[in-house]
Amino acid sequence: MTTKIVVCPNCGNKISISGSSGDRIEVVCPKCGSKGVVSFPEKNVIIQVKNLSKHYNGVKAVDKISFSVKEGEIFGFLGPNGAGKTTTIKLLMGLTHPSNGEIRVYGEKVDVDSVNIRKNIGYLPEKIAFYDNLTPLQTLHFLCELKGVEKSIAEDLLEEVGLGDAMHRKVGTFSKGMIQLLGIAQAMIGNPRIYVLDEPMSGLDAKWVKTVRDKIKELNEKGATMFLSSHILSEVQNLCHRVAVINKGKIIAEDTISNLSKRLRLRPKLELIIPSLNGTIPKGIYNVKGVIDAEAKGDTLTVTCETWSKQNVIKYIQRMGLEIRDFKTIEPSLEDTFIKLISEEES
Ligand SMILES: Nc1ncnc2c1ncn2[C@@H]1O[C@H](COP(=O)(O)OP(=O)(O)OP(=O)(O)O)[C@@H](O)[C@H]1O
Ligand SMILES: [Mg+2]
Repeated sequence: MTTKIVVCPNCGNKISISGSSGDRIEVVCPKCGSKGVVSFPEKNVIIQVKNLSKHYNGVKAVDKISFSVKEGEIFGFLGPNGAGKTTTIKLLMGLTHPSNGEIRVYGEKVDVDSVNIRKNIGYLPEKIAFYDNLTPLQTLHFLCELKGVEKSIAEDLLEEVGLGDAMHRKVGTFSKGMIQLLGIAQAMIGNPRIYVLDEPMSGLDAKWVKTVRDKIKELNEKGATMFLSSHILSEVQNLCHRVAVINKGKIIAEDTISNLSKRLRLRPKLELIIPSLNGTIPKGIYNVKGVIDAEAKGDTLTVTCETWSKQNVIKYIQRMGLEIRDFKTIEPSLEDTFIKLISEEES
């Protein structure tokens, strides 16, 4: 959301309007009643994928997919194992030839000779490997030389990803999380405007996931466009501005997470702590208007219901003479969205 101050052309009144990129909002001046339209321009598309396919001996790894990534976005490329994420990313990086279709980055067509495009993208491959016998500092020095970037930035990069203390240790002694951070540091060489990260949080525990997520946010806040793949949706929830969901080589959705949830009519869950519940669903709860499902475990009652019906549920439980010690609403997760999308596609 951005906010603009517009001046009414009729009376000069200043009006504050909020909107998102691509919105056209009808405005009525509160002072003189004049009507007008304020538009929030679309952000520039910087990665454009059109009708892209990649077949391996009859396997349609990627099947006529199209999507676009806009400047300044964190774009999530989501799908289960084997969906075609890594294949798409390799095509995007010009590491393999498409069977059909095309990818354009900044309007320029990507192919295996696109050295310039590759140089300007910070790429974290799915399976990153470094020489065990080198220190991270030696590793980055070597990669800076390959990219033609001043070697003196290496120490700062290691500090930036939190590997400053391990700068002189051999990479062979690194944990998986540290390797992943070194992978991000190498992607940052040359301060790219676009990052393509293939499963950046894969196999990391919660602490490292947070470190990597924070780094992605920070790079984006400094202006970089982030394209990242994941099959673990909870890891990218609240991180991506928009997502594309790929399943069996085909894109089945491209939107913001909240729009996807709305489209799929996913309902929130109401979680109530009721000390006397004893794992029993209160009688008659299904007769409360708007209740879709209920589950009882120990002192916790979880009710899936329409948003407008949450008050009805609470009132009903109180009418039943049950004490509510605490309650909270759990909004639909990206995981729920993802499962519903894929099951709809497959049914
Ligand atoms: N070089 C290859 N030769 C043959 N088949 C391949 C090759 N690369 C990928 N595939 C197949 O293409 C499909 C998509 O694979 P891909 O690696 O792109 O999936 P993914 O979404 O990245 O999965 P994951 O989440 O497991 O990393 C799979 O069926 C895979 O077996
Ligand atoms: Mg993959």
